[in-house]
Amino acid sequence: MERELAIELVRVTEVAALASAQWMGRGRKNEADGAATNAMRKMFDSISINGTVVIGEGEMDEAPMLYIGEKLGNALHPEVDVAVDPLEGTNILAKGLPNAMSVIAMADKGNLLHAPDMYMDKLAVGPRAAGKVHLDAPIEETLKIVAEANNKRVQDCVVIILERERHLGLIEEVRRAGARVRLIGDGDVGSAISTAFDDTGIDICAGIGGAPEGVIAAAALKCLGGEMQARLAPEDEEDYERCLKMGITDVKRILTMDDLVTGDDAIFSATGITDGELLRGVRFYGGERAETHSVVMRAKTGTIRFIRAVHMLTRKQYQIFTTAG
Ligand code: FBP
Repeated sequence: MERELAIELVRVTEVAALASAQWMGRGRKNEADGAATNAMRKMFDSISINGTVVIGEGEMDEAPMLYIGEKLGNALHPEVDVAVDPLEGTNILAKGLPNAMSVIAMADKGNLLHAPDMYMDKLAVGPRAAGKVHLDAPIEETLKIVAEANNKRVQDCVVIILERERHLGLIEEVRRAGARVRLIGDGDVGSAISTAFDDTGIDICAGIGGAPEGVIAAAALKCLGGEMQARLAPEDEEDYERCLKMGITDVKRILTMDDLVTGDDAIFSATGITDGELLRGVRFYGGERAETHSVVMRAKTGTIRFIRAVHMLTRKQYQIFTTAG
């Protein structure tokens, strides 16, 4: 993949963020998701890739666009797999809470796990603890390892966990080990990524969240030198069937970084929609101007770019982006 693609991808997450930001706090997550998806899909038409959606808005019969298998881009080369989440954190945005963002991961064809839309057990850590943790180790042990790697005491460490009933045991174990917990309502892509940035104060992201989100976060962690280990968590027969259909035969296996994102040629882009730890949200200014904050990274070089963009929107764009409903 040409390195210019990284900047092209930022344009795609930017437009999706701009399109959905107007829905912030309006309590209508489907409309917000629709706006982000629509804008992202259109922008892909101007990107020079021969892309296939491997993680998207759903299977062909249930999603009108950005469905799994949909072709994206306007070129024959490079052939790439694309994982998209036009609006990560639909509930967050609907409530006007922090950390909603638009994200894309891209890799050479065949290099992103075609994760089915189901749950996945995940453990993510930043670069210093990468290679030292194990998904199946007790969290107490993991905390000791990560604390040492990050040159902290266990009681200084923070574990970020989705606030769900299924995590009550995990939360209790973290507390018993003496570490601190940060509970979030939604959005575990951002929380996995935050383990790789010291200034977030987050050391570990653990627990069960969406499998598609797991692959997208793994692409970012690959660029950042962090690590994610994961295991699919099918809930019923239908989920098992879905795994098989996606070519995943050993469902219980631990998925390593290379299983999730093979090779070292991945690109990840995210644009903030609401303010978050990593990225500021979209701002609409007068004079048809809007501002976005994005991060784009390439695994090959490990370059991380934060891009603050001021968009001079056309009147039509401004109307579209600032009119909800
Ligand atoms: P959406 O943006 O699709 O609403 O996903 C938000 C999210 O919190 C993900 O970040 C996370 O992986 C997943 O949902 C957790 O699923 P659940 O809400 O079922 O626990």
